[in-house]
Formats: sequence, structure tokens, C-alpha cells
Amino acid sequence: MYDLIGDFHTVQLGLKTTHLLNHPDFVKHVLVDNNQNYDKATPAFIFSRLVLGNGLFTSDGAFWLRQRRLAQPAFHRKQIDQLTATMNASIGGLMRRYAAYAEQQTPFDVGIEMTRVTLSIAGESLFSIDLDTDAPVVGEAVQALGRTFEDFVEHPVRTMLLIANRNNRQSVAAIFKLRKIVQRIIEKRRTEIGKHNDVLEMLIIARDEESGQAMTDKQLRDEVVTFMLAGHETTANMMTWAHYLLARHPQSMDRLAAEIDQQLKGRMPQIEDVHHLPYTYAVLSESLRLYPSAYMFSRRALKDDAIGGRLIKRGEIVIVPPFYVQRHPNFWPQPQKFDPERFIDRSEKRHRFAFMPFGGGPRQCIGNHFAMLEGVLTLVRIIQKYRLLPVNDNVIHPKMGATLRPERPVMMGVRARV
Ligand code: HEM
Repeated sequence: MYDLIGDFHTVQLGLKTTHLLNHPDFVKHVLVDNNQNYDKATPAFIFSRLVLGNGLFTSDGAFWLRQRRLAQPAFHRKQIDQLTATMNASIGGLMRRYAAYAEQQTPFDVGIEMTRVTLSIAGESLFSIDLDTDAPVVGEAVQALGRTFEDFVEHPVRTMLLIANRNNRQSVAAIFKLRKIVQRIIEKRRTEIGKHNDVLEMLIIARDEESGQAMTDKQLRDEVVTFMLAGHETTANMMTWAHYLLARHPQSMDRLAAEIDQQLKGRMPQIEDVHHLPYTYAVLSESLRLYPSAYMFSRRALKDDAIGGRLIKRGEIVIVPPFYVQRHPNFWPQPQKFDPERFIDRSEKRHRFAFMPFGGGPRQCIGNHFAMLEGVLTLVRIIQKYRLLPVNDNVIHPKMGATLRPERPVMMGVRARV
């Protein structure tokens, strides 16, 4: 697969000349070394803006920088670590459902379960709300938007024109519903300052260092919608793929269970434990290497540039594809193999941009610690109690939609470990 693509590949997508950058050096050039020459005015981000508004994920320039500075403290590792107990409480609902599946020996759709738990964690940890009340609306909104995004990937021009097909009508309605819910949450929270210890509280009280200004309701709303949508499906995919890979690699599952048992001895995981679970991290990292949720992302060149000796003209698009770079044979021996060991044995220093599921440089994912913490806690709690049982050994391929989801449901059973 990789040889067909090569390190640098140029295609004409509609009117846009688009360069696929399949080498870590090229990725570093765009995300770090010459990042000021690239912005997000690409068809994919312009489309995302219709959905997410002008939040951190989609905005650019001085506005983005100000918002990032305001939001950054809320996502600082120390701040996120304090959410451990809240996350553990949200995982409780998932554990009750797994107990029922184990007792009744019923197979279930892992993707649905992971979506539920990540949505619940996002609701409680970011905004102190029980998304179970609003879950159907939020879930519907997320799904409708996902379908529209998939339309967009296949037919960009038609979808950009928002031809009134059923998905788009549903998406527009879904966006408005979601924005209303979020608006309601913000209004309520402005009257409850000091009562919550979550990300929304930090965003509401944050002040710009120079101007002393706070975020307006609209800015807050766009950030909250961004965190809900950018944050939960990506993490749900990571967890779904981790289930799929572990169920196909029982030896890795044994090793994971041994590490968890040794560190926790049956206790609920605390933040101090999280730093002593290298194999658990390695399993999640290897899942993200093979199936990065954000499998590709794009930039537009502001001025002419040269990458790997090739000319990139002003206005052209470059694509950074973690999916391909993270399977580059020069950087990953046996790239298609699931082998968490790669993330344990670090004797050979790897190129920083051979693995970049969270991007890099100034636009690196703000939620990376949040996602890894919820991933580790969820996986630990599951494997502490259960063994994952695949219902068959069929291979499931990834589908390149809004995120990298399995092409069909990952069905699985669980059996209580004794
Ligand atoms: C496994 C889970 C996740 C993956 C794989 C992921 C991946 C990414 C990637 C690759 C980017 C960079 C995109 C670019 O450079 O164009 C990004 C940006 C972003 N992510 Fe994540 N993400 C995850 C979880 C989260 C979570 C949990 C949140 C929030 C709670 C979040 C919020 C954001 C935001 C706001 C940005 C834009 C940051 C900026 O440009 O300043 N993500 N994410």
C-alpha cells in the first residue's frame, strides 16, 4: 500500500492542487519549522467551520492565538489530572453495562459503548453536566454531522453548496439544537461562578493578558461545541480500535492484564497509578498509530514554499496524513503489525513526526492529555474485570470519513476474569 503512494504525492482535487506529505521531515516543516506560512483556509476546515463555528479547531491567526492562550490553562496536564475522580465516576455507567453483558453473555457493539462513555466523560469533566439527559440530541447531532462530513469527503463541492438533501437538512437542524443546548448551559453557568471545578469554569473566568477581556457567549459556545465534537468521537474511536486489536492479540491482553493487576491489586486507578502503566499507554499509542482518528488534516500555503525540493505554490493545499506516515516502512519495521512493544523499547530514537496522532507544533491537539487519561482509566477499569472475546476473527477495515471509524460495527463479548 505504502509504495504506491511514496513520500510526496501531488493530485488535483477539483480546482485545488493538493500535495500529500508522507514523510516526517515534510510534516515537521509544515507543522513546526515554517508553520506561519500555512493556515486552515482549506475546504475541509471551511466546511468544519459551518459546523463547529469559529472555535479553536477551525480559527486562524490572532483570533486563534488569543483563544488558545485563554483555553490552554484549562488543559494543562496538572489541571486535567484533577479530573481523574470525575472520569472514574463516568466510567461507572459503562462498567454496569459490561457487567450485564458478561452475565447475560450477550455480544454488544463496542463503538456504541465507547461513544456513550466518552460523551459522558466529556459532559461531566468539561462542563459538569450529565449528558445522559441531552445525550440523544447530542448523539443525533454528532451522527448527522458525521454523515454530512462523509458526504463532504466524497463530494466536496456539492456538499459545500449545502444542497438540501436529507443529511444536510438534518445536520443544520442538529447544529441549531446543539447550539441551543450549549447556550443554555453557558447562561446557567454564568450564574454559578465558583461552584464548579471544570474546564468550562476556567474558560468563563479566563481573561486576556493584554486586554483583560473575557470570552463572549458566542466564543464560549463555539469552544464548547468544538470540545464536545472534536473531543469525544476521536477518543471513542481510539478505544474501539484498542478493543478490536486486543481481542485479536490475546498475548497483548494477558500482558496488559498482568501490568494492571500488579500495579492496582484490584483498586480503582488513581492519577499516581497512571504513571506506572507503561504497557497500557503503549497499547493505546499503538492503536492510535495504526488507526489514528484524525487520519489526515490539511493546510493552505500563504506564500510559495519548497518541501523536499518540490515547489508548493501560494494557495495550494498540503495534506498531513498520520495514517500513512505512521505506517512508513523506513520508520516502522513491520508497519502493519500490532506491536505495543515499539512504544516501550525506546532505545532507538524515533523521528518526532513519525508518530503524531495529535498533530504537532502550535496547533497540536489541546485535548491530548485529556484523551490519554480517559483512555487509560477506561481501559484499566475494563481489563481489571473482563476478558474481551471477539465474536469472530473477521478483519475489519477502517473507513475514512469524518474520523477513522471501523467500516462496520465491532461486535464483542466480555467474560468476567476470576
Ligand atoms: C484520541 C483522541 C484525539 C485525537 C486523535 C485528536 C487529534 C487531533 C489532531 C490531529 C489535531 C490537530 C489538527 C490540525 O493540526 O489541523 C487536534 C486538534 C484539536 N483537538 Fe484533538 N484529538 C483528540 C482528542 C481531543 C479532545 C479530548 C479534545 C477536547 C476535549 C480535543 C480538542 C481539540 C482542539 C480544540 C483542537 C484544535 C487545537 C488548536 O488548533 O489550537 N481533541 N486534535
